[in-house]
Amino acid sequence: MSTGMSKMPVHQFQLPEGLKPVWNFHCQVHGIQYGVESCQSCLYEKERQQRRLGHRLEEFGLPDKCQAKTLDGFVIESPAHQSALDLAVQFANGDIRNLLMVGIEGTGKTHLAAGILNHLNNSGQYDCLYTTAERMLKAIRACYGATGDAEQRTFDFFIHPTVLIIDEFDKIKSGPDEVRIVSELIRDRDSYGRRLALIANGNLDRIRKRMDKSAADRMYENGKVNKAMFTWPSWRRRKAT
Ligand SMILES: Nc1ncnc2c1ncn2[C@@H]1O[C@H](COP(=O)(O)OP(=O)(O)OP(=O)(O)O)[C@@H](O)[C@H]1O
Ligand SMILES: [Mg+2]
Ligand SMILES: [Zn+2]
Repeated sequence: MSTGMSKMPVHQFQLPEGLKPVWNFHCQVHGIQYGVESCQSCLYEKERQQRRLGHRLEEFGLPDKCQAKTLDGFVIESPAHQSALDLAVQFANGDIRNLLMVGIEGTGKTHLAAGILNHLNNSGQYDCLYTTAERMLKAIRACYGATGDAEQRTFDFFIHPTVLIIDEFDKIKSGPDEVRIVSELIRDRDSYGRRLALIANGNLDRIRKRMDKSAADRMYENGKVNKAMFTWPSWRRRKAT
C-alpha cells in the first residue's frame, strides 16, 4: 500500500519556520539533549522553583490578602509605630527570640506578621509558620486519641518551624485545656530554641491568661518580655484619601 508519506524523500525535510538548526544542547548537569536550544530539565527545574516560591507564603499559612504586606510597607506615623516595626525587624532577623504584639484592632499587627514572613521568605528561610490560635487548637484537638502517633505528629507540626507566629491569640478560651496545650507548646519550642510571636487584641493580660506560670516565664529574654503595644486608632476606620 502506498501512502503520500512514504513518497516524501527524507533528505528534503525542512525545519519549520522560526526554528533554528540547533541539534543538540550540552548541559553541564543533565548532559546532551537533542533537538533543543536549552536544557529542558533545567527549564523545568527553574519553573518548579518559581512555582514553589509563589506557593511558599501560602504554605506558611498566610491568608491571601496578607501576602503582599511587607515590613517596608508599614507606614510610620509615631514613635510607637517605629518601635513596633523595630521589634518586628529584630524578630525577623533572629535578634530576639520571642515577641508579643498586642493592642487595638486594625493597627497593623497582622500586617507586621506578614512582613516578617515575607522578609524570612526573601532571605531564604522557609521554615516558618503562621496560624491563628483557633486553627492550631482545632488541628491538635482533631487528633486527640487518634491511633498511632497522629496526635504527636500534629503537635510536632507546630513545634518544628524555626519561626512560629500565632495570631488571634486572645480568641481562644482560657480554660485549663487551652492553657495546657498552649503551655506545652511554648515549653517545647523554648527547649529547642525556636522563635515565637504571639498576637492578641486587648492587653498583655489576655496573653498571660492563656498560659501557665512556667510558660509565661519562658517568654522572658535578657530580663524582659519583648512587646510591641499597638495603641493608635484602627487603619481600617480611615476614609480613603
Ligand atoms: N502602619 C500601617 N501602614 C500601612 N498599612 C497599615 C498600617 N496599619 C494597618 N495597616 C493596614 O490596615 C489593615 C488592617 O491591619 P491589620 O490587619 O494588620 O490589623 P490588626 O492589628 O491585625 O487588626 P486585628 O486586631 O483586627 O486583627 C491592613 O490592610 C494593613 O495593611
Ligand atoms: Mg490581625
Ligand atoms: Zn540542565
